Amino acid sequence: MNILITGGAGFAGSNFIRHILKKYPDYKIINLDKLTYAGNLDNLKDIEGNASYEFIKGDIADERTVKKVLRFKKIDVVINYAAETHVDRSILDPAAFVRTDVLGTHNLLEGVKEFAVGKYIQISTDEVYGSIAKGKFTEESPFRPNSPYSASKAGGDLLCRSYIKTYNLPIIVTHACNFYGPYQYPEKLIPLFITNLLEDKKAPLYGEGKNIREWIYVLDHCNAIDFLLHKGKLGQVYNIGSGVEKQNIQITKLILSELGLGSKMIEQVKDRPGHDLRYALDSSKIKKLGWQPEYKFEEAVRETIRWYKNNDWWWKPLKSGEYLEYYKKQYLT
Ligand code: NAD
Ligand code: TYD
Repeated sequence: MNILITGGAGFAGSNFIRHILKKYPDYKIINLDKLTYAGNLDNLKDIEGNASYEFIKGDIADERTVKKVLRFKKIDVVINYAAETHVDRSILDPAAFVRTDVLGTHNLLEGVKEFAVGKYIQISTDEVYGSIAKGKFTEESPFRPNSPYSASKAGGDLLCRSYIKTYNLPIIVTHACNFYGPYQYPEKLIPLFITNLLEDKKAPLYGEGKNIREWIYVLDHCNAIDFLLHKGKLGQVYNIGSGVEKQNIQITKLILSELGLGSKMIEQVKDRPGHDLRYALDSSKIKKLGWQPEYKFEEAVRETIRWYKNNDWWWKPLKSGEYLEYYKKQYLT
């Protein structure tokens, strides 16, 4: 099977490529990635020489690139991980999000139609449903996105819906809760806080830290996408959640205690505009089909901390240059 993974040099995509190559040595993976600030070939250093793996630098928002890859690589399955993904950056620069998350998805869908690709899986987020104070979002919940990131992802997901209904394309759409684990860019809550604290810097907590997210270990998400690749029903939407809900302050305290630090290392900073209070998913549909998460939250966070401690060669260079400029704009103005 020839699988095109877009955005495979990012956090979740690189974990998924490693997972597939290990488990299915006869599958061929083509990784199409633009290598934005978040794309990093160091994420896949260990499999660079694998004969079943090929990297192509390219932009999914460029129609010709997408069609060229689909025409010449005889792709059976497309899995779209490529996206601009950070809410705070979407507040500073929404245009890049619309371009990749909406136009890029459209190009891939057009390519799937033109070259009769057998399966397309859209990797998306629970954030498209908006915020929910009580209860959980089901796959039937309306989209009420509140940030330019979630609105752009919702745009891509709605295009997927329309290509299922209108052209009967073989598409599966997935909405997952927040991921954490190795190779996550140190701008998202968990890796930012771990790496800051490892560098004797404070953890910048937005507001009171009462906002709630549902958290899934990235390897559990890999298992879920592997499961849907083989057992998911075409034309369906699946929520992928762990059921583990945490306030940001709880996560911050867990990381601090694992590192033997106290709450004086927390810095309360100004809140994110339009900050969603809570995300929570009803994942019974995929569970009924036979998938369930395996990793325990505290253990997986501990493993994540260990990984960042042992791999500062990976994250230290990311916390200089462009990142610093962004950080200054975000927190120091
Ligand atoms: P990431 O930011 O770590 O990586 C994104 C990757 O996409 C990078 O390698 C980047 O270079 C690439 N990319 C960006 N624009 C591109 C373009 N125009 N063409 C080709 N490649 C491009 O993201 P992530 O956290 O790994 O997220 C992957 C997917 O999972 C995204 O679609 C995201 O919306 C979804 N998701 C993420 C989370 C999370 O908590 N991280 C949760 C739910 C869903
Ligand atoms: P984040 O990792 O950016 O994911 P998302 O916004 O997509 O859920 O943020 C997770 C939560 O952590 C969110 O409620 C915002 C909060 N947060 C902070 O308190 N401080 C930070 O520096 C960051 C990046 C996030």
